[in-house]
Amino acid sequence: MVSERIAQLINEQIGHEQYAAQYYLSMSAWFSAKDLDGIANYFRVQSKEELMHADKMFDYLNDVGGEIIISDIPKPPHLFENPVDIFTKALEHERKVTKSIFNIVKSANEEGDFATTAFLQWFITEQVEEEASASQYVTKIKMVCDNPSALYLFDQELAQRVFVAEGK
Ligand code: FEO
Repeated sequence: MVSERIAQLINEQIGHEQYAAQYYLSMSAWFSAKDLDGIANYFRVQSKEELMHADKMFDYLNDVGGEIIISDIPKPPHLFENPVDIFTKALEHERKVTKSIFNIVKSANEEGDFATTAFLQWFITEQVEEEASASQYVTKIKMVCDNPSALYLFDQELAQRVFVAEGK
């Protein structure tokens, strides 16, 4: 049985993951409106991954007998300056998510809640990958954003991303 404090933190994290999904969907919409459908696809897939993260936490909390309380999800921004602004905000957001997950791990360690610590290992690894990839895309978009031919190729590259559902 998970403690009320850890359950609250996981419930909050479910909300953060769902917010991230909305935020990335908003970014996807911005690129769709600019006919950069490959980059729009990248953020659409990212949005689906965030919902999958929320689902994983939902299932875990249920498995350990915590009460699931669904949060209000704030409206994400929809006005962005340019592609670099969006990719930079995506990286900043991933860094926030990492901090928030570390905070749950810290609390779980303090309580000797090894089940939650073990469960969150997957998320720690995922965040390392997400931050690395978000950081690479910031570098790449800065390289290509002022060159239409390069931006076209970058858009084609991101069109290849597909959502892969994972089990619990
Ligand atoms: Fe669920 Fe991108 O962190």
